Amino acid sequence: MSTVLPHPIARPPRRSIRELPDELISQIAAGEVVERPASVVRELVDNALDAGATQITLRLLAGGVRLIAVEDDGGGIPMEELPIALKRHATSKIRDLQELESVGTMGFRGEALAAINSIADMAISSRASGQSSAFLLDGRSGELKPVARSTGTTVEVKELFFSTPARRKFLKTDATELAHCVEAVRRHALARPDVGFAIWHEGKLVEQWRACPPTQFTNNIDAISERLRDVLGDDFKDKSVAVDYLSSMRDDGGQAVRVWGRVGIPDAARARPDQQFAYVNGRFVRDKVITHAARSAYEDVLHGQRQPIYALYVEIDPTRVDVNVHPTKIEVRFRDSREVHQAVRRAVDTALAAPRAAAAALATTSSSAPSPAPDIFKPNLPLAQTLPAQAAMHFVAPVAHRVSDMEALWPVQPAVTAVSTAPTPAPTTPAPAAAEIWPLGRAIAQLQGIYILAENAQGLVIVDMHAAHERIVYERLKTQLVDARITSQPLLIPVTFAATPQEVATAEAHTDTLATLGLEITPFSPKTLAVRAVPTSLVQGNATELARSVLAELAQHEASTVIQRAQNELLGTMACHGAVRANRRLTTDEMNGLLRQMETTDRSDQCNHGRPTWRQISIKELDALFMRGR
Ligand SMILES: Nc1ncnc2c1ncn2[C@@H]1O[C@H](COP(=O)(O)OP(=O)(O)O)[C@@H](O)[C@H]1O
Ligand SMILES: [Mg+2]
Repeated sequence: MSTVLPHPIARPPRRSIRELPDELISQIAAGEVVERPASVVRELVDNALDAGATQITLRLLAGGVRLIAVEDDGGGIPMEELPIALKRHATSKIRDLQELESVGTMGFRGEALAAINSIADMAISSRASGQSSAFLLDGRSGELKPVARSTGTTVEVKELFFSTPARRKFLKTDATELAHCVEAVRRHALARPDVGFAIWHEGKLVEQWRACPPTQFTNNIDAISERLRDVLGDDFKDKSVAVDYLSSMRDDGGQAVRVWGRVGIPDAARARPDQQFAYVNGRFVRDKVITHAARSAYEDVLHGQRQPIYALYVEIDPTRVDVNVHPTKIEVRFRDSREVHQAVRRAVDTALAAPRAAAAALATTSSSAPSPAPDIFKPNLPLAQTLPAQAAMHFVAPVAHRVSDMEALWPVQPAVTAVSTAPTPAPTTPAPAAAEIWPLGRAIAQLQGIYILAENAQGLVIVDMHAAHERIVYERLKTQLVDARITSQPLLIPVTFAATPQEVATAEAHTDTLATLGLEITPFSPKTLAVRAVPTSLVQGNATELARSVLAELAQHEASTVIQRAQNELLGTMACHGAVRANRRLTTDEMNGLLRQMETTDRSDQCNHGRPTWRQISIKELDALFMRGR
């Protein structure tokens, strides 16, 4: 038997090192920058904005594959610089490393025009401001000839990928490519409300967003809100709240981080993250830090996999963010990502926290419904009624119906009196005038033991009483946990219950966590646990049920690293058990107490699971239901 020798590995013949031809270098670079027509659109619109354009018009054929023409009214390119603009690494935007590190323009790499020119037929016509003539440069031949046009630049890109057929095969249908092109312009448009945009496809106007001149608006948020409405529709504007947040100064005296824009209310969340726009110093970015920070601000008010909608603008010292990490500049790197994470999270969290009923009521009282002229000489009127509505809100609400403690919602005996039958004593009945200025109105009835019906200035308010109360208890528990510890109250007689070995083990392993949460649960016998103390605010609840669900959650979140998160969830569980159950009859006073608490509790528009706690049905909507006034 002969030995079989291993087959020798074929060694390729050595080839000498050579510099690649310019054309090929550009084509390789183009592969990074230009993936599809939309990438060309992004680069050309970037350039138009850098040139100071106020109006940008796109004309497309076949989804941009046959033609992309971008016309602007910016500063233009002088004739002698036109051929240089097409060279690789040629730019007017930076000169040295220092300028790179604090770059304020969209472009700076000087490679887009060269890259596009290597994979398509390109022509640039331009007239520089202050010059009397315009010139057209043919990208292929390099020929320059005079043309007639006003100040500005038009770049025409024809037959994209004609020289790289393999690339062309990756393109989708014209409709899909067009959609990507529109999306690229939309991202720019949402950053620049002061610039007008128009998109034509196959001779038809597809989108048009008019410029909102800066003089027309007192601040950025108003201008952006208007543009958001134009680009994304009324729904985005109506279902979002304004954000304006400035982080505190850095220790080294450096510039603070500003985060502004609009964030959708939880109700507006979608199945897909297709309406999340994030900008850093005016540049659209896809950034994990910002996405994560924004999502985490919704953790408490949005359930499951729902995706919030938002347009967020982060403004940060340019030297603290590196934009040169990706050829398309869609990714950035922050010097201190925690700084940005914290700012975005706080910005969104603050904007979402304020109960929206109050804001809505203020808006109506100040605009549409003029308050009656104050008449301070009228006798026997409570002080509140003699004041203008807005001032009264601060007086009346706290004085007449302030429920300083949630215990007020827990009648000593289960209330069985039906609301409608018992005439409410006069002193505690809110005057109708007062009801008008309470954002959530005056309670009028309870429906099926589940909903509270109330009347306010706009019409009918329907409140899911369990969901609303759950949030109120939860928010209170959270503050207590931050402030110190949840105050705990020992039970006079410990409540014992039959427990599983796992429950006993969990109780023993987590004595400290339970104590932090105001609970004391100790083994009574090998198969019995005793609840010896519960949070003060939950003394009236079912101790066994509370202990069981807290232990069940603690068993899942045993790792001490997730304790903070577990605590929030545990608090949620506790809140659920502490909140008024369905089918409890509430008195009018109790119902009003709940409404007043909702008006002043953060995040009270959603329960802990992200469901809405109340809905407004306006008189207009009711009229429509009954076809009144037609
Ligand atoms: N629409 C335009 N208006 C005025 N100048 C332009 C325009 N497009 C390109 N340029 C000029 O051509 C140069 C090269 O453009 P580009 O290849 O996109 O690189 P960059 O934008 O990174 O500088 C720019 O620096 C700019 O001076
Ligand atoms: Mg550019």
